[in-house]
Amino acid sequence: MESIKGLVRTRYCGAFRPEHIGERAVVFGWVQRMRNLGGLIFVDLRDRTGIVQCTFDEAIHKELFDRAFTVRSEFVLAVTGTVRSRGEAAINDKLPTGGVEILADELRILSKANTTPFEIVEDSDVNDVLRLKYRYLDLRRPDMQRTIALRHRIAKIARDYYDENGFFEIETPILTKSTPEGARDYLVPSRVHPGKFYALPQSPQQYKQLLMVAGFDRYMQITRCFRDEDLRADRQPEFTQIDLEMSFVDVEDVLAVNEGFIARLFREIHGIELQTPFMRMPYAEAMERFGSDKPDLRFGYELKDISDIVKNTEFKVFSGAIEAGGSVRLINVKEGGAKFKRKEIDALGEFVKTYRAKGLAWMKFTAGEMTSSFAKFLSEAEIAKIREAADAGENDLIFVVADAKDDIVFAALGALRCECARRMDAIAKDDYKILWVTDFPLLEFDEEENRYVAKHHPFTSPRDEDLALLDTHPEQVCAKAYDIVINGSEAGGGSIRIHDSEVQKKMFEVLGFTEERAQEQFGHMIEAFSYGAPPHGGLAFGLDRLVMLLSGRDSIRDVIAFPKVQNASELMMASPDGVDEAQLHDLHIALDLPEEK
Ligand code: AMO
Ligand code: AMP
Repeated sequence: MESIKGLVRTRYCGAFRPEHIGERAVVFGWVQRMRNLGGLIFVDLRDRTGIVQCTFDEAIHKELFDRAFTVRSEFVLAVTGTVRSRGEAAINDKLPTGGVEILADELRILSKANTTPFEIVEDSDVNDVLRLKYRYLDLRRPDMQRTIALRHRIAKIARDYYDENGFFEIETPILTKSTPEGARDYLVPSRVHPGKFYALPQSPQQYKQLLMVAGFDRYMQITRCFRDEDLRADRQPEFTQIDLEMSFVDVEDVLAVNEGFIARLFREIHGIELQTPFMRMPYAEAMERFGSDKPDLRFGYELKDISDIVKNTEFKVFSGAIEAGGSVRLINVKEGGAKFKRKEIDALGEFVKTYRAKGLAWMKFTAGEMTSSFAKFLSEAEIAKIREAADAGENDLIFVVADAKDDIVFAALGALRCECARRMDAIAKDDYKILWVTDFPLLEFDEEENRYVAKHHPFTSPRDEDLALLDTHPEQVCAKAYDIVINGSEAGGGSIRIHDSEVQKKMFEVLGFTEERAQEQFGHMIEAFSYGAPPHGGLAFGLDRLVMLLSGRDSIRDVIAFPKVQNASELMMASPDGVDEAQLHDLHIALDLPEEK
């Protein structure tokens, strides 16, 4: 292979424009394709900025032409030449460099390439397994290059923005102790301390609070977090947070600084001026209206509670659910839902079952007629009232879910409303709907453990006005917690923390911690707070999710250079993997594996 000795790149491939005509050029890159037009060879050379056409003319330089003939896709080349106009007829409007080409007078083949398992082109429909096994090739594709570049820009804007607002970037340990976010930990065995394990952080939550106790006032960090949980399109076992914490603040201060960041992102990335302050919606309202704590506001189909209308109906599916303490609610897929055929409605019935709904009742209005799965069980008056409550008219389709558990009704209809919007094509592509969901419940009742657990984490502060309720009605206490929701995706979340040791003690009590257990798990925090803790609070954005939203991708996999797949393995390096007996021995670990099936 040849070397680049003596060559210095003059421009990136994608940078050449008509104003550079006549200029000497040295470019490096990968061969997108080679075309031989008889007497003329065109090599499209690609780097991370784009493509430039290099031309080899047999009449001018026969030997060079012959060498260009040996070039194949994905060879790595250095080309030297002169920038010239393509001429009117040959201009390629689709390429930013399409007005010019480099007439080559030197070609060095820096590296040859085998035929790649798939072609390096934008938006190819190569299957995911192949893409991830050859991720370094997948990443060569221009759309992937753009996304990874966008990710860099977003991280850079974050660092700049928070720096300008007085935040210090401070690193926190990766080898640490179990944290209270509630997912399963990844553990790392200690060689020096046989039988002991580090936990990888689910977030730097405790460290950042301790940095506030340490007096740093404002902290931020772009940091990796690790959670051993089931993966989905928006979840990875290791992911990145833009994590921050502030002292001497209450809810509004944290929201204001952070919406400034989001506004700046949208301005710099998309040229969109977002209106601040962003909308705020209490958790209870989000659930009532959208069946979700991360409502997508880009479309309607809001939930309506019809429990009052049907509580005394003969139809036991409805009245029974209410009697058992639940509710009956509906959504109206307005203006076109009625086009759904029976098969599609049945499929949606199966869809809501994955959210534990027992059934899906429906009613639709077409050609002046009403058809329904449940109308025959109801009186005319009841039907009229439901229709009125749903504001149902021609071409509408109503879906009803009844359940003894409100949670199930919300989850099923909340998901169904998004699924219907997708099927109806009711979501505008470049629409961004952003809001803060606030006033989350502080606690959740865990039926398995038969006790309250913290919905966020045990350091989240109750609202001042709810403090008295902690003793009497813990389930009614709201937290100073907030999530930022962008187009139905939880892009970030945080809270004001408890800094008063009495309140913290009470919180541990409500959570059913004995004094010993609180000491054992969080003694370092309790002690730290006894030496003067400022009021503080913060938030963490999911960087991967922000990049996904801003790049219009459907999966966070596409915005992570080397992501993991559904079963948490990484296909290119093939991790996780077995280790040597000797390594295990050093760690005092003996394996007790399940029988192979
Ligand atoms: P939380 O657990 O809500 O809060 O996480 C903050 C944000 O991180 C993103 N996120 C994820 N992204 C990808 N894959 C995952 N598995 C994943 N899990 C979470 C989400 C989420 O909103 N310490 C607190 C923050 C605080 O209170 O300051 C925390 O970690 O976008
Ligand atoms: P059935 O009495 O089982 O024939 O049900 C009549 C209609 O009620 C069907 O459309 C069912 O899908 C629907 N249905 C059954 N259970 C529920 C439920 N829990 N919520 C809403 N609709 C239901």
